[in-house]
Amino acid sequence: MGCKRCPLWKPATGTVFGEGPANARVLVVGEQPGDAEDLSGHPFVGPSGKLFDRALEELGIERSRLYVTNAVKHFKFERRGKARLHKSPNAGEQRACRLWLEGELARIRPDIVVCLGAIAARNIFGPAFRVTRQRGTWQTLADGTRAFATVHPSAVLRQRGDEARHAAWRAFVADLALLLDA
Ligand code: URA
Repeated sequence: MGCKRCPLWKPATGTVFGEGPANARVLVVGEQPGDAEDLSGHPFVGPSGKLFDRALEELGIERSRLYVTNAVKHFKFERRGKARLHKSPNAGEQRACRLWLEGELARIRPDIVVCLGAIAARNIFGPAFRVTRQRGTWQTLADGTRAFATVHPSAVLRQRGDEARHAAWRAFVADLALLLDA
């Protein structure tokens, strides 16, 4: 909780670790905490988390059975007036945080890893992974763990127009449906 391996700890409210049962079969990786997560100390509780919850609900999957974490454990942001705008963590910040994600993977030993967005996917599959081309397809990690990636829920929220947002939502739910027969 007191990690200072990269400079992101300083402006952040606190470290946000993963949450979920130690015997979870599925470990979900996001990018980094956002504003709501930084303030509450819990992963995926803001707008992206609510959208993720809705997708799980539609599929009949209980979030309480998943271990949900992020590639980076501190919120990186830029102040714009009162707002704190999300900034993507750079390669050094991701590298500094890697041992925590590796620690979580080693402790939970999930059967399945789900990556939400490109930053999570590249941390799990390596830098050549392309979410746009490889989303929604099973991959096998070096230790035999099965894994897949989909977009980050914020990519669904960012779509302009009802039609585009609905299509992005359906595609997101369809990717996560891989969990149903896994
Ligand atoms: N986005 C993420 O990637 N993770 C969170 O915990 C919240 C928003």
